[in-house]
Amino acid sequence: MTLLLVLALIGCANAQGPGEPARHQFHDVSHWAEVFESPARAKWQKPAEVVRALDLKPGQTVVDIGAGTGYFTRRFARAVAPSGQAIGLDIEPGMVAYMKADAAKLKLPNYHARVVSADSPELPPDCADLVFFCDVLHHIGNRDSYLQKLKPALKPGGRVAVIDFKRSSPIGPPAGMRISREQMIDQFKQAGYRLVGERDFLPYQYFLEFKPAPRN
Ligand SMILES: C[S@@+](CC[C@H](N)C(=O)[O-])C[C@H]1O[C@@H](n2cnc3c(N)ncnc32)[C@H](O)[C@@H]1O
Repeated sequence: MTLLLVLALIGCANAQGPGEPARHQFHDVSHWAEVFESPARAKWQKPAEVVRALDLKPGQTVVDIGAGTGYFTRRFARAVAPSGQAIGLDIEPGMVAYMKADAAKLKLPNYHARVVSADSPELPPDCADLVFFCDVLHHIGNRDSYLQKLKPALKPGGRVAVIDFKRSSPIGPPAGMRISREQMIDQFKQAGYRLVGERDFLPYQYFLEFKPAPRN
């Protein structure tokens, strides 16, 4: 029960509505590291299955936006090694410092981290084979503009994968903050993407994959 309460805080710490910008609610890195890196999380987050499902190839570049402690970034770095790159982006300098120390400790030279602003991933054109969001998009304000800015950063054939809490999940953000699977698909469609894949092996989260829609 305690565990469920702690895990529920993954989203509960965010008191703003879905349209408002994030307010640095993840600045207490040591607290959040215990939550994000809890061994119990793996039972429902299934990180190895997630990485396997993404079918990454050595040499690819993966950008993990809102990477937190690098829970997925370090796994992406291993999946695309030796020549591929995994880049964890976060608005919290403390999270980025955590990831840099993590990369050094794990001796993963292809695992990078940097601070970005809340309204833009600040990526150069044609840089990413995969952009990944896990439990992040409900924290981002003006998602339409954000997703538009993301498109040029994708290489030809590049994808965006999104994992976020289902409306029905017993853990996650307060109900009012959640973005349902259907709303997420609509949000991406409005921003000019099409749904290209979906996996249903996560008990509490949906897992969607998008590509930019061809222009008419
Ligand atoms: C719930 S945590 C998820 C962390 C990680 N993705 C994971 O699955 O363990 C959300 C993270 O997104 C970051 N974040 C919130 N808004 C952001 C934004 N606009 N751009 C980048 N990161 C953001 C927060 O600082 C936090 O580290």
